[in-house]
Amino acid sequence: MNIAVFASGRGSNFQAILKAIDDGKLPARVSLLVSNNSNAGALELARSRNIPAIHLSQKQFSSEETYGEQLLDLLARHRVDLIALAGYMKRVPVMVIDRFRNKILNIHPALLPSFGGAGMYGVHVHEAVLAAGVKISGATVHIVDEKYDNGPIVMQKAVEISKEDTPETLAAKILPIEHEIYPQALAAFAGNRVHVEGRKVWIQ
Ligand code: GRF
Repeated sequence: MNIAVFASGRGSNFQAILKAIDDGKLPARVSLLVSNNSNAGALELARSRNIPAIHLSQKQFSSEETYGEQLLDLLARHRVDLIALAGYMKRVPVMVIDRFRNKILNIHPALLPSFGGAGMYGVHVHEAVLAAGVKISGATVHIVDEKYDNGPIVMQKAVEISKEDTPETLAAKILPIEHEIYPQALAAFAGNRVHVEGRKVWIQ
């Protein structure tokens, strides 16, 4: 199975995916790394591993259609079966979501369906979690649909929140969980063990 990873930042989830592949826990290869940010650490990481790394941003195109077509072409050329958004800060064009229905995953650093949606990224997520006074948070892997953080939930794992937690300590607690469950979820897809029925997802 060929995975395309889309990342905007440092790429620690991308690194965790590569490690799972190296360790034989994820039967797949990353055939493409796409970033909207030319300074993304993820681009550097891909290049250091000889993975095709492309800087592609909607800003380079006159419309979402031409951008989407370019992206679809790129995904076809690299024979991509599954797309993993890993800290990707941009919306995926609708035509790509359509073509890769149930084949685009995202990792979110909270327990969806709470604390997701527009504006809920990075430290904002953890600030909102702490402000709400909830006692647990965690990480969610979900299928990507047309709305932010909305698609069916594939895998979740929780952490406990302590009185001393700050947005930064909470992020640091959750990140290793992301690195654990994202490769596991991808491995389930790679092994064809995932069944999607509406909003319900079962892993065999
Ligand atoms: C992660 O916390 C992920 O959940 C969120 O963005 C962050 C990306 O981190 N969507 P990294 O670039 O994978 O290190």
